[in-house]
Amino acid sequence: MERNFSVERNSEIELRLLIEAIYLKYSYDFRDYSGASIKRRVNHALSQFECNTISALQEKVLRDPAAFMQLLQLLTIPVSEMFRDPSHFLAIRKEVVPLLRTYPSLKIWIAGCSTGEEVYSMAIVLREEGLLDRTVIYATDINPRSLEKARQGIFSMENVRAYTANYQQAGGQCSFADYYTAAYGYAIFDKTLRENVTFADHSLATDSVFSETQLISCRNVLIYFNKKLQDRAFGLFHESLCHRGFLVLGSKETPEFSAFGHQFEPLVKLERIYRKS
Ligand SMILES: C[S@@+](CC[C@H](N)C(=O)[O-])C[C@H]1O[C@@H](n2cnc3c(N)ncnc32)[C@H](O)[C@@H]1O
Repeated sequence: MERNFSVERNSEIELRLLIEAIYLKYSYDFRDYSGASIKRRVNHALSQFECNTISALQEKVLRDPAAFMQLLQLLTIPVSEMFRDPSHFLAIRKEVVPLLRTYPSLKIWIAGCSTGEEVYSMAIVLREEGLLDRTVIYATDINPRSLEKARQGIFSMENVRAYTANYQQAGGQCSFADYYTAAYGYAIFDKTLRENVTFADHSLATDSVFSETQLISCRNVLIYFNKKLQDRAFGLFHESLCHRGFLVLGSKETPEFSAFGHQFEPLVKLERIYRKS
């Protein structure tokens, strides 16, 4: 057996121990996240927390839940946008909505909803297409701070200005300003958009399916998982979706190479819109 006494090997061991400690202490399971991205984020955390080693960071987060909450913000990447990839939302309007209309009632699951931008985007599309009243949306994430922000529906006006262009390119039918009230540099979104939304803590790594759904949107989450965890998530989606239900993913995500490759067929491949086979 070849022995490896290098400093890099120390970091690898410390990283695994940190991830294991987080799981044991706080039940957040990052063990099957993609190695490269978790490494990058932990390295960033080292400078944020002014720790010289991952072991020092581990000691800090084990003893201090507030420090762990801070680390969670770095590990979960709570970045989002409204109508992110406008052509994706346009394709939902054109290709998916006509089929959704055939259901008397709808359940939609937005998995990894982060701070809610995707939820409000979907709700706006459904409102404009006359479907929001008969839809229940489950918006889930593992980051409680993100979920709280999503529940509030208040976004910086500076960002909302950029989202206005996205909304128009995504086939928006109204004035985007109709959906919010501007105050003190913030846009407070119309609370009727979230009337039928349940925001909840749910992990694709550790939790199971909670409802039958017609559409699942899980965008820019699976890119952070390794193959094993991606397979787990696709398994949950397959179990939750009704016969011929829709799965919509982020621009770099596909079920194609997963264990569930044959269980989903592309409806609009370019826009990552799939249907249960
Ligand atoms: C980059 S954001 C994507 C937000 C949004 N879906 C979008 O496309 O704009 C990734 C989100 O996935 C969430 N996430 C990470 N691991 C998760 C897990 N195991 N289960 C559910 N959500 C998770 C993070 O908390 C974060 O909010």
